[in-house]
Amino acid sequence: MSDLEEKIKEQYGKRKHLNPLYNSYYSMRTMHERGEKLRELLESHQCRDKSLLEIGAGHGGNIPMLLMCGFKKENLHLNELLAERIKAINENYGEYKLFEGDFLKIDFGQKYDYVFQSTVFSSILDTATRKAIANKMWDLLKPGGYILWYDFVFNNPNNNQVRKVTANEVKSLFPGALHTEFHKITLAPPIGRRVGKLYSLFNLPFLRTHILALLQKPEA
Ligand SMILES: C[S@@+](CC[C@H](N)C(=O)[O-])C[C@H]1O[C@@H](n2cnc3c(N)ncnc32)[C@H](O)[C@@H]1O
Repeated sequence: MSDLEEKIKEQYGKRKHLNPLYNSYYSMRTMHERGEKLRELLESHQCRDKSLLEIGAGHGGNIPMLLMCGFKKENLHLNELLAERIKAINENYGEYKLFEGDFLKIDFGQKYDYVFQSTVFSSILDTATRKAIANKMWDLLKPGGYILWYDFVFNNPNNNQVRKVTANEVKSLFPGALHTEFHKITLAPPIGRRVGKLYSLFNLPFLRTHILALLQKPEA
């Protein structure tokens, strides 16, 4: 096992009890909201003909959302580091192309129209590793392609195994981006989990903790 895998495994071991249940009303609601917003952002992008790589895909939970945005199964590629998550992807989404292991060590052998990360960077505490991953994501993009980004912008006082990624840090990770769009999204988990079905009522911009962003690489 590599040092990075050890580190990530240890972090997840420590925070297991803090993870929201995937089937809670809150997580379903936020996932749906994210899907709707992403579909709106990508409406004019003709995703049916575009390729996308999701790095750190976890258990593959973003796949339904990406299909909903119009991406075709055969054009969605995944990458994941942890063995138990790789197993889950293989069991539930075995027909998808999966690159197993540390994103930084894999030769993907192709470029993509979109490279997507969802709460991977906030799990990486080390600034140099963040930069290395961002650089590789950028290199994997075709000219005119997009970094697709979802992560939180506030620290969680109860969890020192994660660290926020502010919009300014995102911009500095991709200094060559031509066109950038940032949208605040996701009602803060401590509130959202408490208010249940009143989610929409409480979902005010200043109570949102994440950003959904698109950053475009210039055409060649
Ligand atoms: C918080 S989880 C998010 C999972 C998924 N993206 C989602 O939105 O549900 C972060 C994931 O990134 C993975 N990860 C972290 N560093 C990685 C690396 N260097 N290569 C591949 N995956 C990595 C972890 O194993 C974990 O599954």
